[in-house]
Amino acid sequence: MYKKQRIPSFFMIGAVVLFFTVLGCNVKTAPEAKVEAAATPQPEPKPGLMSWRVATAYLEDLFAQIPNSSIDDFRKDTPSGERKLINASHGETGVREDNAHVYGEPAPLTTDLMLKGLGAGENDVIYDLGCGRGFFLMQALMTTPARKAVGIELSASRVNVGKQA
Ligand SMILES: C[S@@+](CC[C@H](N)C(=O)[O-])C[C@H]1O[C@@H](n2cnc3c(N)ncnc32)[C@H](O)[C@@H]1O
Repeated sequence: MYKKQRIPSFFMIGAVVLFFTVLGCNVKTAPEAKVEAAATPQPEPKPGLMSWRVATAYLEDLFAQIPNSSIDDFRKDTPSGERKLINASHGETGVREDNAHVYGEPAPLTTDLMLKGLGAGENDVIYDLGCGRGFFLMQALMTTPARKAVGIELSASRVNVGKQA
């Protein structure tokens, strides 16, 4: 006849204690999380700022190397599609008067005064709505701490010249 064997209760208690002891030994303390201060990427220092005179001389030299990129070139020739587009963007008056496409730029000294009035800092973005060949924006990048300048322009040929510069 089957006789139920009794396991002495102190063995049971010992087994449980042993189980927890073993379990306890396996528990390793989590390695201390190393929080290394992630190096915040610092922007490259901007090269020395120029005076408006030096910047202008530099930009004039630059544009002299790009064919048909001067203010005079732009004044005498605007592709007819662009001419219509620019004039139409000025509404009925623009179409009727047909002169919104005529190109011009503020004198560099005037631009300098405008930029000084703006007082742009290194975290500012300068926008030029109707940026033409981008002279204003480039002068701004060379003479102010601003690191970014964005131009909006309808005339693709002027944008193309600005990109080359
Ligand atoms: C005075 S010129 C640009 C001079 C430029 N801001 C600078 O100082 O060097 C004006 C420019 O605005 C552009 N323009 C005129 N109407 C526009 C419009 N509705 N949207 C975008 N550009 C426009 C013309 O094509 C032209 O190139």
